[in-house]
Amino acid sequence: MSNNHYDSIRAVEWHDGALKLLDQRVLPHRREYLVIEDAASTAQAITDMVVRGAPAIGVTAAYGVVLAARDRYARSAATWKQDIEADLETLARSRPTAVNLFWALERMRRHLANLSGDPHQSLLAEARRIHEEDIAANRRMGMLGAALIQDRCTVLTHCNTGSLATGGYGTALGVIRAAYAAGHISQVFADETRPWLQGARLTAWELVEDRIPVTLLCEGAAAHLMKQGGVRWVIVGADRIAANGDTANKIGTYSLAILARHHGVKFMVVAPTSTVDMTIASGADIPIEIRSPAEVLTHAGHPIAAEGAQAWNPAFDVAPAGLIDAIVTERGVVLAPTTAKMAAMMGNGA
Ligand code: MRU
Repeated sequence: MSNNHYDSIRAVEWHDGALKLLDQRVLPHRREYLVIEDAASTAQAITDMVVRGAPAIGVTAAYGVVLAARDRYARSAATWKQDIEADLETLARSRPTAVNLFWALERMRRHLANLSGDPHQSLLAEARRIHEEDIAANRRMGMLGAALIQDRCTVLTHCNTGSLATGGYGTALGVIRAAYAAGHISQVFADETRPWLQGARLTAWELVEDRIPVTLLCEGAAAHLMKQGGVRWVIVGADRIAANGDTANKIGTYSLAILARHHGVKFMVVAPTSTVDMTIASGADIPIEIRSPAEVLTHAGHPIAAEGAQAWNPAFDVAPAGLIDAIVTERGVVLAPTTAKMAAMMGNGA
C-alpha cells in the first residue's frame, strides 16, 4: 500500500507467493481480498470482475502467468514451456476488449521463451516490472494530463479508472488526482456507470478515501449538467485505442463524447501505450464484450426489472477519434488524434 498523498489504494498485489486481489464486487461495503494460487482461478477472477479495468487486468494476467509457470514446472521441468500455452489461452479468454490483457500475456510469453531452469523468480520479476511500469506511466500521464487543465474548473469522469483499475494511481483518475493536487480542479462529477456501478461504488470510494470531494450523477444527467455550463473537461480511460485514435471504453463513453462536442466541453482520453492496439486500423475492429443480462435485470442479486423482460448488456462502446480532443499516454499527448499522429507518438516501440 502506497503512502503517497492522493494515492493510498492497491487492488493487485503479489503477497507471500500468491496473487492477492481486492474483491471489487463487494466494494465499497466490504473490503475483502481473494488469495489466488493458480492460472485458472486468475482467469475466473478477471471474468467475474473481482479485478477489472484494462491495466489492472493486464497486471493480474502477468501474475497469473507466474502462477501457471510454477505449477507447470513442478509437474514437468522438460515440457513446461509447451504445457503453459493452455494456461495462456485460458487467461486470454477471460475478457475480450481490454487489449492490455493480450499485451501483458505476449510480453510474458516472450520473456519465458528465453528462460532455462526454474522460471519462477525471473517471471515474477517481469510481472513486477509490468506492474511498476504501469504505476510510473500513470504518474507521468497524471502530470501531462493535468497540464492540459489550465483554469480551476469542474470535470466529469465515467466508470472507474483509478488505482482499482490499474497497477496504482490511475489513468483518467490519475489526471484528476494530479490536477486536484495542483489546485486545477474545483469539483469532480462522476457518472454512477450503469449497470455495474463502477462510478458509484469504486470511483466515489477511491476519491472519498483520498479526500477528494466527489459528486455522483446518473449518466442520464450528464447532458443537463453540461448544458448548465460548469464542466470544462470530460476525462475518461480506455480499454483499447485503435491506430486512428478511436477509443473503446466503458459503455456510455460514446454518448459522453457526443454530448461534450455538442456543449463545447473538451474530451480527454488517458491510457498507457499498453492500451494502444496499432494492429487495428479503427474502432470498427475492436471486439466489444457483451456481458450477462443479469447485470441489467438485477441489482446486488435482487430482481429490478419486470419479470419476463430481456436485457442487452454491451460492456463497452467506441468513441470516434473525431470527437476526442486529447489522448494522453506516458509517451506524450496527441491532440485531435489521427492515424499519423498516433503512429508518431507510438514511434518504434509500437
Ligand atoms: O468493465 P470494466 O470495469 O473492466 O471497464 C473498465 C473501463 O472501461 C475503464 O474505463 C478502462 O478499463 C480504463 S481503466 C484505467
